[in-house]
Amino acid sequence: MTDKPPVNGESAPGARLFFALWPDLRVQAELARAAARLGALCGGRRTPAAKIHVTLAFLGEVALSRVEALRAAAAQVKGAAFDLNFAKLGWWRRNRVAWAGPEDTPAELARLADGLRAALREADFRFDRKTCVPHATLLRKADCRELPSLAAPIPWRVEQFVLVRSRLAGSGSAYEIIGRWPLSP
Ligand code: 2AM
Repeated sequence: MTDKPPVNGESAPGARLFFALWPDLRVQAELARAAARLGALCGGRRTPAAKIHVTLAFLGEVALSRVEALRAAAAQVKGAAFDLNFAKLGWWRRNRVAWAGPEDTPAELARLADGLRAALREADFRFDRKTCVPHATLLRKADCRELPSLAAPIPWRVEQFVLVRSRLAGSGSAYEIIGRWPLSP
């Protein structure tokens, strides 16, 4: 019997990784304010400002020996900068996550996510393939049956995407950006 080894090499020493869009400090602070207002209505646990992001592809555990191949795959991706306007709040009953996101997905974001996922498949990486609804998680374990609207839209010019390492810590996870790739102006 010859089981194919897991392509991310989870059995070797590894890191928990995901690709994301990482807002600048102003955008993170504005989203954190929105999280505080929403949290007052819905309860739940707020995402600290410095951890607010938009996930592009979640890989989970990846062997350290595969990280260079992962960087090479990311470097293949050709994307263009775009405006992401956080204009609406949402809440998913199934996982009790409350989030902020754009009214419509910008075409460049859809192309970036598709291009990245294609590059990951091409390089034989496994990742969570659930459909990507662009969102920044603001609250977990929240109950937002009555969702308010955002006080004001939060505009953001997205000029790069990043690779993030997540280390599980006592009370949650600590994130470290370990790679950055620019989007063409
Ligand atoms: P979430 O914010 O909607 O929970 C780090 O865990 C990031 O990867 C989070 O932003 C999380 O999205 C996202 N993610 C996507 N798929 C995931 C999975 N299967 N397990 C954990 N996090 C996942």
